[in-house]
Amino acid sequence: MKLFIDTANLDDIKKAHSYGVLDGVTTNPTLLSKEGNDPLEQLKKIVEIVKGPVSAEVTSLDKEGMVKEAKDLVKIASNIVIKVPCTTEGLAATKELSQKNIKTNLTLCFSPSQALLAAKSGASFISPFIGRLDDISAEGMGLVSDIRLIYDNFSIKTEIIAASIRHPLHFIDAARIGADIATVPFNVIDKLMNHPLTEKGIDRFLQDWQKLKEKLESGLK
Ligand code: E4P
Repeated sequence: MKLFIDTANLDDIKKAHSYGVLDGVTTNPTLLSKEGNDPLEQLKKIVEIVKGPVSAEVTSLDKEGMVKEAKDLVKIASNIVIKVPCTTEGLAATKELSQKNIKTNLTLCFSPSQALLAAKSGASFISPFIGRLDDISAEGMGLVSDIRLIYDNFSIKTEIIAASIRHPLHFIDAARIGADIATVPFNVIDKLMNHPLTEKGIDRFLQDWQKLKEKLESGLK
């Protein structure tokens, strides 16, 4: 499973990139607004760090507006992917963009029917939002499972991005189900490597190492 980072924060992107595990980035208007900079300038800085797909979202609600915004966004770099909402206007925009070989990520997906139509319209990626479904007591991971099944039934190549991930279990469940990608906030990426037994093991090794050094230094064997 590929790992994307879900942020527009440059320090977090640089840190995750330095771990050697990052395959791409997803942003959205909320994430870009948190950074407070001009969004196009921020995206330019992001694509300098990460060479994999970088999703940038349109804010127009109609097809013409979405396509116009997309054309400006793809000028930033060839790895920009256009995030389009799962609406009928979004489908029409996706169709036009895919005919122009512009990659799209259909976002705010909350149902298998949205995912199937997104794929039919030519979406490169689909983003089911797990955490936001969990928040309303619906099973977010069940949606990822349904989409995997449907896409496999028809050999659909649209890649599934497990999105709105809130904790490590979401990440592992997405991998078990066979999501192609998980897009994960930085605080969760860090948690993926935490294990108390690793910490305990390191402490123990260092203590024993120190004991040996002290013993050797004091001349007692
Ligand atoms: C995905 O592309 C979205 O940016 C993101 O995962 C939304 O997550 P949230 O529900 O935590 O805002």
